[in-house]
Parts: sequence; C-alpha cells; structure tokens
Amino acid sequence: MTDPQAPLGPRALAGPRALAGTVAMITGAGSGMGAEFARRLAADGATVVINDVNPTAAAVVAAEVGGDTAIFDVSDSGAFDAEVDKAVTRFGRLDILINNAGFAPPMDDERVQRAVANQMLRMEGRMSDLIPPDHTVDLSDHDWDRMLKVHLYGTFYGTRAALRHMTPARSGAIVNVSSILGLRPMAGPLHYATAKAGIIALTKSVGQEVAAFGVRVNAVCPGWIDTPLLAPMDPTIMAALVMAIPSGRMGQPQEVAQLVRFLAGPESSYCNGEIFSISAGLS
Ligand SMILES: NC(=O)c1ccc[n+]([C@@H]2O[C@H](COP(=O)([O-])OP(=O)(O)OC[C@H]3O[C@@H](n4cnc5c(N)ncnc54)[C@H](O)[C@@H]3O)[C@@H](O)[C@H]2O)c1
Repeated sequence: MTDPQAPLGPRALAGPRALAGTVAMITGAGSGMGAEFARRLAADGATVVINDVNPTAAAVVAAEVGGDTAIFDVSDSGAFDAEVDKAVTRFGRLDILINNAGFAPPMDDERVQRAVANQMLRMEGRMSDLIPPDHTVDLSDHDWDRMLKVHLYGTFYGTRAALRHMTPARSGAIVNVSSILGLRPMAGPLHYATAKAGIIALTKSVGQEVAAFGVRVNAVCPGWIDTPLLAPMDPTIMAALVMAIPSGRMGQPQEVAQLVRFLAGPESSYCNGEIFSISAGLS
C-alpha cells in the first residue's frame, strides 16, 4: 500500500486523464454546478455516478459523460448508504464524493417588494419607517427542517456512507459545496446560511479526523454562480447582488468546476479540512 502521507509524486501532476481508474459520485448532478463537476471529472477520466432527485435530468447528464445514475433524495440516509454501497459493488471502489445537491429558499413577491421599499427608505435615511422583514418569525418548522435536511444532513449522510469505504481503503476525496452565505450570512435566508455554515464546521472536523488515513475532506464556498438555482430570483434583487460583486459579474459553473476538480484529485494532497471561497472577491 502506498503511504497516504507521501508528498505528491509525478502521477499526481500528470495532467489530462489524471483521474483515470477512479470512481466519483456527485449529488445534485442533474443541473447547474453538479452537472459541470461531472463533465470536468469525466473529462479527466473518472467514472461518474450522477445523483439527483430528478431522474430525467440525471439521465441526460449520465448519458453525456458516459456515467451511471443514482436517483435518490440526499436527505434519506438509508438511500444514500444503499446507493454508495451499490456503486462500490458495481465499480469496485469509490474515490470521490461531491456533496453538492441543494436548493435555494423561495422568495415571494411580497417579500421582494418589502425589501425594495426598505432599501429606498434606508437611502432616504428614514430608518423609523422601515418595515420589519420578519424572515425569522415567518419561517415555518417545515421549511427550516427541509433546508437543514437536504444541505447539512445530506452532506453528513454522504460523508458517513463514503468514509465507510474510503477509510478502510486509506484513500479518497470528499468535496462539500457550502456557500459564501455560510461564511458571510445575509439577512433573509437564515436557514440556508445556517445549513451552509454547518457544512463548513463538518468539513473541518471530519477533515481533521481522517487526515492521517489518506482521506481528504474539503469544502468550496461559491459566490453568485449562474445556474438554474438563481433563475427564480427577482431581477432587481439580482442586479443589486451582482453590483456588489467586485468583478462585476456572476461566476460560471465551469469556474467552480476547476476548483472542485483540484480538490477531488491528487494535486490537492496537502489540503484537508480546508474551506475555499470562490466568489470574485465577495468573501
Ligand atoms: N448558484 C449559486 O449561486 C450557488 C452559490 C453557492 C452555493 N450554491 C450551492 O451549489 C449547489 C448546487 O447548486 P446549483 O446552483 O448548481 O443549483 P441547481 O438548481 O442548478 O442544481 C441543484 C440540483 O440538486 C438537485 N437536488 C435538489 N435537492 C435534492 C435532493 N434532496 N437530493 C438530490 N438532489 C437534489 C436538483 O434537482 C438539481 O438538479 C447547491 O448546494 C447550492 O446551494 C449555489
């Protein structure tokens, strides 16, 4: 067995096809960034298992990258365990897990109008006229639970299922998709920010736990990335968010995929429990 602590050898920097022979599972890979991660890893030779709750979307991406599908909800721990085990039985190994599945909190029109009105009042200095946004008091148990279940519990379930194979193999890479909102929460999506901040703590803790055993666990915190996730966002709010990005534009999924590819592969052999923001200066 090779020494998991050994510094990079020439193979690690081998470039194209550096992931040949490896097997990766990517959650939420039927759309947006997850689909792009699948393309990027497959381009370097990985066999990719495409998870999503949307079977049609998963099948399209799997056909494109020549991979397999695993249709399940990441908040279902039994399903996650079973599908990881199935992938290991089918392909003989699991080298990479990208915990990416997620969704954005819906924003209703009334809330958007309130936010815009409050912004005008602030600009006019009329602080005593501000309308309480009540994001927290209006948030239901169901919405709070669902957000944490999919993002934070889903990341835990996947990490646990993968480590059952990776730790005995003394090899593996897990990449968790957090968010800039996990590092710098904003008023409004408090359940999203809490779940994403939890993913950061989970990554640091588990990364330290497994570092001596050849397994690496890292997280990325993307800023505003142009994917279907943001399509329902009010255009006025979106324009204001983009104006605050130092580079003046949203990121592309391909740009995040380069970072995820680095963390999934042997090039990042000295990264463990690390948190990487990719936000064009927003963080
Ligand atoms: N787009 C952004 O600006 C941005 C920024 C930071 C972080 N993120 C995070 O990146 C990840 C990917 O987001 P995206 O922008 O590519 O969104 P997207 O909507 O394009 O893709 C998300 C995919 O996850 C799937 N999914 C949702 N819930 C699921 C579940 N319970 N089980 C399995 N699959 C599920 C969806 O069906 C969809 O195919 C999410 O975790 C999101 O929170 C996005």
